[in-house]
Amino acid sequence: MSPVRKAVFPVAGLGTRMLPATKVLPKEMLPVVDKPIIQYALEEARAAGIEEFIFVTGRGKTLIEDHFDRAVELFDTLAAKGKSEALAELEAGIPKAGEVTYTRQQEPLGLGHAVWCARHLVGDEPFAVSLVDDLILGDSPCLGELAEAHGRTGGNIVATMEVPHAHTKRYGILDPGEIDGRLVEAKAMVEKPEPERAPSRYAVIGRYVLLPEIFGHLDRQEPGAGGEIQLTDAMAQMLGARPFHGYVFSGERYDCGDKLGYLEAIVAAALRRPDLADGFASILKRYD
Ligand code: UTP
Repeated sequence: MSPVRKAVFPVAGLGTRMLPATKVLPKEMLPVVDKPIIQYALEEARAAGIEEFIFVTGRGKTLIEDHFDRAVELFDTLAAKGKSEALAELEAGIPKAGEVTYTRQQEPLGLGHAVWCARHLVGDEPFAVSLVDDLILGDSPCLGELAEAHGRTGGNIVATMEVPHAHTKRYGILDPGEIDGRLVEAKAMVEKPEPERAPSRYAVIGRYVLLPEIFGHLDRQEPGAGGEIQLTDAMAQMLGARPFHGYVFSGERYDCGDKLGYLEAIVAAALRRPDLADGFASILKRYD
């Protein structure tokens, strides 16, 4: 099986659920403790062995490009002041020259359309997609787990987790076939079903490894739910023709596109930090 070398980050969405913070600031740049959300996604992809990072941006998202660039004056000032630790951390956080590419989705026509915008940059090889709003914290990178699973099955893989029955209408839900440990064969995907219609509690989360054939399906530009070109519709068209699995990833996922999810992500990330955990835990006790 070919390894997964490229990851697409569709970041052209409007982020309306986080207004007014996202009126000017891309939601991917909102900080979780002291790093923007997008930095976590890049670090996860890197830890998974991804070599090429493809960002599908839109108008008003240039801060993302600036964030992943060298800030020459800042770096020089830190060096002159001997702040070598801060400098090393900043240097480590940016992609190396040539590892990162940006393309623009000119209109927010949906996630499927955003991924399609990266088709020439991806070419003819399996690739990862990371929805950075879904911040995943854990000891092993979620994309790495999916890539490893793809190496075994050869087909499309989506990250999945079991959600409470009452929450199925917030997610795409897998209709499961054979279950082998963390690998869940997908017979079908149902978009946001009411709990009584949900075929399982396996929700699709924003990490995927996809076969390049998906672009052939996205080429048709068929609008789906909400009038948007949906990635899940194109994936569903490959069901049956190619292996399709969910992988129950080992980390914890936080929905940073939603206010409560974002707040929980900050709490969880701070409590995982050795330099902050004790102090922050004692602050939290005051709000019990
Ligand atoms: P969301 O459904 O979270 O939409 O998109 P959104 O516009 O970002 O946020 P809200 O709902 O208005 O608050 C899921 C992912 O797909 C990307 C988003 O950037 C996000 O990573 N996306 C969505 C695009 O890149 N382009 C689109 O046209 C739609």
